[in-house]
Amino acid sequence: MELQITATSPEHPASLLDLPWNIPLAEWPEETLVALDRGISRHVVRFAQAGGEIVAVKEVGEWAAVREYGLLRDLDRLAVPAVDALAVVTGRTDEHGEPLEPALITRHLAGSQPYRSMFQTTMRPSTIRRLLDALAVLLVRLHLAGFAWGDCSLSNTLFRRDAGAYAAYLVDAETGQVQPRLTSGQREYDIEVARVNIAGELMDLEASGSLHPRSTRCSSARPSSSATATCGMS
Ligand SMILES: Nc1ncnc2c1ncn2[C@@H]1O[C@H](COP(=O)(O)OP(=O)(O)O)[C@@H](O)[C@H]1O
Ligand SMILES: [Mg+2]
Repeated sequence: MELQITATSPEHPASLLDLPWNIPLAEWPEETLVALDRGISRHVVRFAQAGGEIVAVKEVGEWAAVREYGLLRDLDRLAVPAVDALAVVTGRTDEHGEPLEPALITRHLAGSQPYRSMFQTTMRPSTIRRLLDALAVLLVRLHLAGFAWGDCSLSNTLFRRDAGAYAAYLVDAETGQVQPRLTSGQREYDIEVARVNIAGELMDLEASGSLHPRSTRCSSARPSSSATATCGMS
């Protein structure tokens, strides 16, 4: 099997080639990695230096990697805030010739933080509301562009402080689909998924003591509606 790097721009295959593709991502040596905060994930995700930039590497099956790569490229074309897809790496083998999982490479979103890092100090309710507002704006933009997310959550979003406000970026497009126009049923489904995911994530934060007492009261009293009520998605 031969290593293949399918990339958008011609300079990426060369800069990505130096990464240790013959080692499972979970075992990449520390000197290759960049220690930046990342959110909860199903797959192994790591940050690495490639050429002059920091990239996020996600190990995922080939079909899913190619699909997510295509969807992130679609979002770029549709001018919706999302991480930039750089490449898909296939044909990886280890030193014994055993196959390794393909990888999706995206550009690390500079200045972004996963929500858990933002909640490391107790967050004021007004700040939470601003984060959720940013996520609601992202969801509306996705829907207007014809993108059904399928897994809207705080974990699948990155936040960047943008001139005093927060801007939200989609980071995980795996479950998405693009259509010329979404039906109201598709939009409602996405909002329902967002409600359930965000309420669960806020309850986790509450359980770990990361929520300000005033927001705690709100989320524990109305677990399934608090998040969406504050971000206006209901
Ligand atoms: N391009 C990127 N820039 C910054 N962080 C990223 C990037 N890609 C992934 N991450 C971090 O890795 C986490 C997991 O990525 P994600 O695509 O959601 O993986 P999974 O499909 O396993 O859920 C994200 O929550 C985010 O914190
Ligand atoms: Mg995810």
